[in-house]
Amino acid sequence: MTTKTNSPSGAWAGTQIPGQAGRTALVTGANSGVGFETAKTLAEHGAAVVLACRDPEKGQDAARRIQAAAPTAELTVLPLDLASLASVRQAAQQLRATHDRLDLLICNAGLGWVPYTRTADGFELVFATNHLGHFALTGRVLDLMVNVQGSRIVVVSSPAHRQATIDFADLQSEKHHSKRAAYGQSKLANLLFAYELQRRLAAAGAEAVALAAHPGGARSNFNRNLPWLFRGPNYGLFRPLSHPSAIGALAILRAAVDPSAHGGDYYAPSRRMEFTGYPVLRRSSAASYDTNAQRLLWEISEELTCVHYPLTDQNPGRVSR
Ligand SMILES: NC(=O)c1ccc[n+]([C@@H]2O[C@H](COP(=O)([O-])OP(=O)(O)OC[C@H]3O[C@@H](n4cnc5c(N)ncnc54)[C@H](OP(=O)(O)O)[C@@H]3O)[C@@H](O)[C@H]2O)c1
Repeated sequence: MTTKTNSPSGAWAGTQIPGQAGRTALVTGANSGVGFETAKTLAEHGAAVVLACRDPEKGQDAARRIQAAAPTAELTVLPLDLASLASVRQAAQQLRATHDRLDLLICNAGLGWVPYTRTADGFELVFATNHLGHFALTGRVLDLMVNVQGSRIVVVSSPAHRQATIDFADLQSEKHHSKRAAYGQSKLANLLFAYELQRRLAAAGAEAVALAAHPGGARSNFNRNLPWLFRGPNYGLFRPLSHPSAIGALAILRAAVDPSAHGGDYYAPSRRMEFTGYPVLRRSSAASYDTNAQRLLWEISEELTCVHYPLTDQNPGRVSR
């Protein structure tokens, strides 16, 4: 079952997760780290889980590991490369062929600290994967969620968003690129997207809500691109600032299933600069609540992905399908 630790009394340590039988969750990046732990815990609580992974073999391996912990779990592996808009379109089509509703969409997959790389679509790789891919995926499956009671979209950000800015004049980091800035920008974009999505869902009278979360310093494969000092052996200098992925996943799970969570909430670990601890409700950076930036990013993202949401910010009470 879910990782249970000696949590302080009152901490949201996963024991509060309600039964998820009859619900379907899609988790991106479900083969590794925080996404794997999130998918596993949802499956253990009875949800049917779609493991959306760019490498189907890794997805199948993750499914086997989850099945070992939850033998009756209903698991599907969905090939999805978020850095490719064609792959996102195909994944959405495949999902729609087999599912007519979705209760939870966990936009978790991500990477960072990679050298400047352009995707086949012409976008900077980190922005494309972490933000644009999730923007496109959500837009393509949102109509499976809008009218489903209790449905939630959870977008996974990072404390790295706090030092970040969005350079609308150079979103693809063509004029200036640094690994840190590109990752921070993508994680700020995750929050701008989540909050704008929530505003539009609420204005449309949708049942679905959008929330955000981050896992803190989670010991996962994420560090593979960081300098040696922060990855090995045994995560090096990162170790005292980090906790197991299963604990990091709790912030995402809380955003996904805590009955007291609301659209627009942001859950993050409670301790050590948000790096460790059980999830609590927090405020993200002032920049992430800038509604002009939220709207602008939304419009640019629709243009870049050619995915136009079945929601506008001006149609209260109506959700077009
Ligand atoms: N670990 C931390 O300390 C930390 C802190 C703050 C925020 N986060 C956030 O937490 C999330 C999960 O990260 P993690 O720590 O669990 O890292 P992880 O172990 O490296 O897992 C990342 C997942 O994203 C997938 N992914 C990467 N590029 C993809 C693409 N183009 N299409 C589809 N999937 C792709 C990876 O697939 P492959 O296995 O095939 O590469 C993997 O499944 C990320 O959004 C990250 O920004 C992590």
